[in-house]
Amino acid sequence: MPPRAVAPAALLALCCATCGPPDTAQPMGWADAVPLATVMDLNPDPHVVEVRLDARVVPIAFRPGDQPAMVWTYNGTVPGPLIRAHAGDRVIVHFTNHLPETTTIHWHGLRVPNAMDGAPEVQPPVAVGGSFDYDFVVPDAGTFWYHPHVRSSAQVASGLYGAIVVDPAPGDVASAEPPGLGDELVLVLSDVLLNDDGTLGPVDSGGALGDLFGREGNVVLVNGRPRPTVLARRGRRQRWRLINAARTRYFRIALDGHTLVRIGGDGGLRPTALPPARELMLVPGERADVLVTPDATAAPGAQFALKWLPYERGFGTAFAREPEDILYVRTSAQPALTDPPAALPARLRAIDPLPTAGAGAQSIELTQTIVDGRAVLGINGRAWPDHLHLTTHVGATEVWTVRNSTMADHPFHLHGFFFQVLDGGDDTANFAGEWKDSLNIPAMQTRTFVVRYDDRPGMWMFHCHILDHAESGMMAMLEVMP
Ligand code: C2O
Ligand code: CU
Repeated sequence: MPPRAVAPAALLALCCATCGPPDTAQPMGWADAVPLATVMDLNPDPHVVEVRLDARVVPIAFRPGDQPAMVWTYNGTVPGPLIRAHAGDRVIVHFTNHLPETTTIHWHGLRVPNAMDGAPEVQPPVAVGGSFDYDFVVPDAGTFWYHPHVRSSAQVASGLYGAIVVDPAPGDVASAEPPGLGDELVLVLSDVLLNDDGTLGPVDSGGALGDLFGREGNVVLVNGRPRPTVLARRGRRQRWRLINAARTRYFRIALDGHTLVRIGGDGGLRPTALPPARELMLVPGERADVLVTPDATAAPGAQFALKWLPYERGFGTAFAREPEDILYVRTSAQPALTDPPAALPARLRAIDPLPTAGAGAQSIELTQTIVDGRAVLGINGRAWPDHLHLTTHVGATEVWTVRNSTMADHPFHLHGFFFQVLDGGDDTANFAGEWKDSLNIPAMQTRTFVVRYDDRPGMWMFHCHILDHAESGMMAMLEVMP
């Protein structure tokens, strides 16, 4: 037999080994309504992901019939391209700024060296027309994202954000994920403020009051699309990597007729899967890894809405608001899989609890004070740029106490290091044992967590991730000394 005749069979075998038997797969084009742009890896080394990101303004019509909005993008899309790497890979990003103002990129949740963190106090902002090469190793598997850290509320609201997913290192048995978690979707949740004609609304609507309330867009986007529809095979498990990239909006979400099983969050998989839940909360900056099994008993063509649910984060933010459909899951005509999906292992991942005996302490307060008759958000009564400056040192383990003395919730985010929640209030069991970098601190409540500073000295920011709050003052600095 000529050698060529063998090739198609070999290819077919290869395909079936990677795609799985066709009779269990999702319908053709099931995720076409929620595409994420990708970006070319310029480096042939399998352990180096080298990409170009250009920030530039492009016209995008979000809704049918809209005038195009002049959106600020990475590489021309909202969200920016999905960057994908393996734990331990080196990631090089050749960044060029074609925006009309300076910017940086912050790699939210990635444990990068301080000089690569995108904090404008550490990295001089990239000038208009200028470039910067980000170059770091990604040590942890998980779901992360990137966004600017200069005028972040305005720049994120204009479209600058993207996802970065780090898969476990191939062959690393200790950090391997259990097989069969499900067919993956990366879903970037955000919103945008559009005028009736589709053009972008002002990024500073409402002035100082807008800063205080936090500005929400009026159109919710899932991977940059309003109300997309994904197709699903009945009974076939899906794994959703969710990212809240909105400047202010809290995403309290529920899928009609279904439960969500959260298996991971900010810092990769949890030690164990949580019990199935009717709803899930993602505060700005937060991520969740959830399993969803479309109802095997539903009719073909049945449609289920993923709903945004009102949540009172203060200032009457839930008042007179209705649940809103943000995405649809429509079942295909393929035969339903009636066997339940493979059971999850009791332990998804081993995470040692950080010891608190002998740990140091940091205690801060999220504050709202009155200065010259105007409400000012800050930390310990100080508003950025006149900021609180905490110090610690490499190798220290510290218990943080974060007290919110305001009448509104604030999603707290620490750069550079993961923490473990000790007292999460009603969420203590929800977050027990997992790595986090973003945590809601409800109005008038206190939360505690423990953090260890690995060997990455430098100036690390912490702030409220309602970016209007951060930029108006609720932002401070932790100096980790060698
Ligand atoms: Cu995603 Cu300083 O934040
Ligand atoms: Cu806040």
